[in-house]
Amino acid sequence: MKDEDNGIAAGRAQSRSLDVLQSAAARGIRFRNRLAARPVAPDRAAVDALAAFDTPMPDEPVPAEDVLELLDTLGSPATVATAGGRFFGFVIGSSTPVTLAANWLASAWDQNAGLWAGTPVGSQLEIVCLRWLRELLGLDEHWGGAFVTGCTMANFSCLAAARSGLLSSLGWDVERDGLYSAPEIPVIVGEEVHPTLTKALGLLGFGRERVIRVPTDSRGRMRADAFPRLSGPSLLCLQAGNLNTGDFDPIREIRERTAATGSWLHVDAAFGLWAAASPDLRHLVGGIESVDSIATDAHKWPNVPCDCGIALVREADILRRTMSFSVAYLPEDARREPSHYTPELSRRARGVEVWAALMNLGRKRLAAAIECNCRQARRFAGGLADAGFEILNDIVLNQVLVSFGTEAQTLETIRLIQEDGTCWCGGTRWKDRTAMRISVCSFATTDADVESSLETMIRCAREARASVG
Ligand SMILES: Cc1ncc(COP(=O)(O)O)c(C=O)c1O
Repeated sequence: MKDEDNGIAAGRAQSRSLDVLQSAAARGIRFRNRLAARPVAPDRAAVDALAAFDTPMPDEPVPAEDVLELLDTLGSPATVATAGGRFFGFVIGSSTPVTLAANWLASAWDQNAGLWAGTPVGSQLEIVCLRWLRELLGLDEHWGGAFVTGCTMANFSCLAAARSGLLSSLGWDVERDGLYSAPEIPVIVGEEVHPTLTKALGLLGFGRERVIRVPTDSRGRMRADAFPRLSGPSLLCLQAGNLNTGDFDPIREIRERTAATGSWLHVDAAFGLWAAASPDLRHLVGGIESVDSIATDAHKWPNVPCDCGIALVREADILRRTMSFSVAYLPEDARREPSHYTPELSRRARGVEVWAALMNLGRKRLAAAIECNCRQARRFAGGLADAGFEILNDIVLNQVLVSFGTEAQTLETIRLIQEDGTCWCGGTRWKDRTAMRISVCSFATTDADVESSLETMIRCAREARASVG
């Protein structure tokens, strides 16, 4: 009788404590429903109100619903509407309803994706996603990969495998013996290399600055004709999707030029890789199947929730040799052990959302969604050019660089656009010019979003011209 009472009490407590999940779902849905109508950036009052979080840690427990209420009341207004359709900064990407739902369900599962034994489903979905990605990109079955936080860690993972593969080809075991006295590996990057890639090089002992920088052309592409003559195995780092112009290094040409040198060709394809999903854009990454490693982000274009980077390596065994370790207390399954391919042991099951994205979209809708974003980028460029503003890049993908006149006029335009709240864009420097950068990579962006954002940009630019002179 007593046990039964206890069971009922425990059941009641459990169901009461799970009420907070219903509440979180309702609050999350309300947040998403309001995205279309709210300003993209939070207002000053919402950011100032965050100071209210800064209390002493309570001595006594605070009820779960009160914790959530506080988080929602103070936190939700101080978010940036990156999940909406009018955020065009930083190539961040949005999340679709199904990828968010998969993320919620996976969070409820609370799986540790380090081990097959910790999450058969998380491990199996990684295997399936890697196969689907191989098929999408035309990669052979030897390719393997890992799901990490973002493209920085994807670059890191690929370059760690590159270090291992190159040094092993020179008779050096870097995993065992480290870098002291190891043969030197020349590292080649483009002038437009993303700084997170050079950071990864630094973390791996190659040095951020001990690199040969290849000049780029007017579109930011590495000049194959300026590529240095290689005297031996080297690490070549190319880019697919320049952070400013969205343009692509000539992958195939550089592969052909360097094929005989035993070099490792890595491509930082944070967002550009997804051009391969579209028959119309695939030519941009021509030759991708011939490289040795590729780093990309699924939280950018396939629009899975932040965060999810993917490292792909042609010889999965090299990535495995680089990352794996064994210890008696961790079981090893005959199937793919996820942690044998990642820098981390414990991590969340990112394959769940990637699987949901690819399953929900299918090849056709993924291609159409990416093509739609690229068409919207062209519409931005056309609309701004028609209004008399200067477009600084060829629109090959989803990136638009626009100058609104002098540096002061462009900076003031960006300030006014951010303050207005209809949309959000950031600034950049391109070929010694100050520009505004528009990155279209949210599947939530509608043509109406583009038109209202264009109208705002043009109005703010005219106001800036009037005020700055
Ligand atoms: C070309 C390129 N590489 C690497 C990164 C870093 O990716 P993440 O922020 O996911 O670490 C970015 C980010 O935008 C990028 O555009």
